[in-house]
Amino acid sequence: MTTAYLNGHFLPLDEACVPVMDRGFLFGDGVYEVIPVYGGKLFRLAHHLKRLQNSLDAVRIANPLDTDAWESMLTELVERNPGSDQAVYLQVTRGVAPKRDHAFPEKTQSTVFAMSNTAPDPVDSASIQGITAITLPDSRWQHCNVKAITLLPNVLLRQQAIDAGSVEAILLKDGYAIEGAASNVFIVKNGVLVTPANGPALLPGITRDLILELAVANGIPFREGSIPEVDLRGADEIWLTSSTREISPVTKLDDQAVGTGQPGPAWKTMIDLYQDYKQRIRRGQAD
Ligand code: PDD
Repeated sequence: MTTAYLNGHFLPLDEACVPVMDRGFLFGDGVYEVIPVYGGKLFRLAHHLKRLQNSLDAVRIANPLDTDAWESMLTELVERNPGSDQAVYLQVTRGVAPKRDHAFPEKTQSTVFAMSNTAPDPVDSASIQGITAITLPDSRWQHCNVKAITLLPNVLLRQQAIDAGSVEAILLKDGYAIEGAASNVFIVKNGVLVTPANGPALLPGITRDLILELAVANGIPFREGSIPEVDLRGADEIWLTSSTREISPVTKLDDQAVGTGQPGPAWKTMIDLYQDYKQRIRRGQAD
C-alpha cells in the first residue's frame, strides 16, 4: 500500500482524507509539483521547490514548510514507498474554511498533501516508437506559469487528444505553438532545437530546462523563441517533455508524419544524454 503524507503525518494513501470544505476541493485553490525520483534520489529538488515557491507567491499562499522541512518530508516519503524510481506528487491548498466564499478566508492553515508512485521507465515504454499528437486552441487562463491544481482546461484538452486517438494535445495561441496539455514542446529544424521562451503563457518545465542545459554542455545549437504554427508543421522533429514522460518524440501531428515519421537523430542524441544524466543522479553525481 502506498504511503502518503497529509498535514504532518504519514499514513496509508486510502486513509488520507481532507474535509469537503478544503478550498482545494471547492475552488481548485492550490498549487502542486510532480518530482521524479531516480535511484531513491529526488530529481532537481531545489528547482522544483523554487517553482513551488513561485506558484505559492503568485496565488498568495504562505509556504507552509521551509526548504529543509520539504526535503526531509519528501525524502522520508520516498523511503517509505517501494521502488527506487518513483514520481512524487505534492500539493498545497489554501486550506479548510468555515464557509464557501471566493474571498480568502482569514487565518486558515494550508493543507499539505504528498504521495509517491512507482514510475514506469518511459524509455522502455511505447513512447520510444514515437507518439501522435493533435493541435488544439489553447483555452487556458493567462497565468500558465503557475502550477495550479485548477487543471480542468488541461484535463479537457488531454481528453480531446485521447478521444482523437492521440496521446497529447499541442496548444496553439495566436498562431504559435505554446506547450502540450501537460508537457513542454520543442521542435528541431536543421539541427537547431527551438522551444518557447518562459513567460506567463507556459509552465517553466524542469525537464525543459535540463534539456537546454544538456544542449549547452554538449554544443547542441538551440534557440528559446516563438514557434509559429507553420514551423511546427514543417519541423524535422517535435518533442514533448515532462517529468513523468521525459522526452517523447512526436512522429505524427494531426495525421501528418513529422519529418521521416520516425523518432529523429536529435531526439536520439538528447534521450541518451538524458539517460546518462539520470545515471549520474543515481550515483549521487548530479541532482
Ligand atoms: N505536468 N507544461 C504543463 C502544462 C505541465 O503540466 C507539465 C508537467 C509540463 C512539464 O513540466 P516538468 O518538466 O517540470 O514536469 C509543462 C506534470 C508532470 C503533471 O501535471 O502531472
